[in-house]
Amino acid sequence: MDEMLQPLIDWLHAQPFQQTFAGTFWIVPTAQTIHILCVAIVMTGALVIALRGMGLVGKEWSLARWQARFHGATVAALWVLLATGIVMTIAEPERELLNIIFRAKMLAVIVTLIVAHFLSRSLRAATSDRPIGAGVRLVAVLVLLSWMGIAAAGRWIAYAG
Ligand code: HEM
Repeated sequence: MDEMLQPLIDWLHAQPFQQTFAGTFWIVPTAQTIHILCVAIVMTGALVIALRGMGLVGKEWSLARWQARFHGATVAALWVLLATGIVMTIAEPERELLNIIFRAKMLAVIVTLIVAHFLSRSLRAATSDRPIGAGVRLVAVLVLLSWMGIAAAGRWIAYAG
């Protein structure tokens, strides 16, 4: 895998924008700050949906309504996470692309996005005739746990892998 990614790393180092990203002191810290703020947005939506699914908070609104409330902000935050993640990766390609925790995190992001997409569809399709089942509520908890694991992996890239 490392050998496969080395040409991409070499290519990135040859690009002027890579040198700008790596050599401008404020670019990486700013991308990190925005990244972590977007983590908070994704986590807030996932936490409320999971807790509402367990009947612990927000019972005045249906799960479908909570889902609609958080959907736009979560999708926007995920796009910004991708963009800021790409900026950090371009700035330090070896640190990210050759790190096993970074790779595991990317795989987990893809799987969680797919599961979260189907969860979101199930929640939106719910009606009073078709209530949300225990399985869907469990998936909401699993999606929350998965985002938490991904956040932990993001932090661990700096220390392991
Ligand atoms: C969508 C694609 C994503 C990409 C490409 C990406 C990429 C990155 C990169 C390159 C880093 C820097 C790691 C380092 O060098 O120390 C990072 C850090 C981090 N990421 Fe992501 N990430 C993405 C999504 C997410 C998501 C969905 C979450 C959580 C829900 C997340 C949570 C974090 C956290 C908590 C850090 C540590 C920030 C810090 O230490 O300042 N990331 N990410």
